[in-house]
Amino acid sequence: MSTSPFDPQDAAIVFDGVTKAFGAHKVLQGLDLVVPKGKCTVIIGRSGTGKSVTLKHAMGLIQPDAGRVTVLGKELGRLKREELQRLRLRFGMVFQNAALFDSLSVYENVAFPLREHEKLTEAETLSRVEAVLAQVGLSFAIQKMPSELSGGMRKRVGLARAIIHTPDILLYDEPTTGLDPILTAQIDELIAATQQNHPAMASVVVSHDMKGAFMVADYIYMLHQGKVVAQGPPEHFKTTDDPLVRQFVEGRLDGPIGVE
Ligand SMILES: Nc1ncnc2c1ncn2[C@@H]1O[C@H](COP(=O)(O)OP(=O)(O)OP(=O)(O)O)[C@@H](O)[C@H]1O
Ligand SMILES: [Mg+2]
Repeated sequence: MSTSPFDPQDAAIVFDGVTKAFGAHKVLQGLDLVVPKGKCTVIIGRSGTGKSVTLKHAMGLIQPDAGRVTVLGKELGRLKREELQRLRLRFGMVFQNAALFDSLSVYENVAFPLREHEKLTEAETLSRVEAVLAQVGLSFAIQKMPSELSGGMRKRVGLARAIIHTPDILLYDEPTTGLDPILTAQIDELIAATQQNHPAMASVVVSHDMKGAFMVADYIYMLHQGKVVAQGPPEHFKTTDDPLVRQFVEGRLDGPIGVE
């Protein structure tokens, strides 16, 4: 398997031989990958293969058993707690279930990271919230409550909240799971547009949806049994004969990936 073409010295995130087990269950088994700045990286793989665990390592929420995770040039295992907390502020995270605060309006949900981390006047906060809501096409919903919104709208609010503090790294954990095909296409378009609007930012999208991966990715890593088994630009995944990739991309039951 080839290594990624990105320079680890100037990467957003580098995983270097990361292993992680929960009890006897080995999840990551020597994970090597480089997430470059300024691009959208998609991590694909079957359910349970360690994609969410990988994102949690990137944010320092889980520590590896062995190997190193380096974020924006800093090796996480060497950071003091306050340094790690400061580094975490440079991430934005879009959760699978949107994870909005149901008792807060859209405005208060989106303003939340600003209130936590920046001292702004109410007028400044309002103009920042209006700006990100416009980016996700939800200006009209600023005074609504989350319960009044559809699933797709809630995801867009979650995205607005994740980008309001202009993160250096934006992580998405299965942003389209559970949405209908049209909403899925809308969110995928928004992911691509968000990357274009923030050219210095690194996006990382964890997904098992190949159509979306092909739409948003500059570069794709495929995980299997806790390792990267294939990587390359979308074109590589469309054309390679690698039976692991073909089985996953085409969603076939027969092939080298065992189906329990
Ligand atoms: N904190 C934890 N304690 C014990 N086991 C865990 C923990 N977190 C994850 N696991 C296990 O690690 C494996 C990988 O989990 P992970 O959530 O990363 O999968 P995934 O690739 O994100 O799957 P999906 O596509 O279904 O979200 C699973 O078997 C899960 O049960
Ligand atoms: Mg997951």
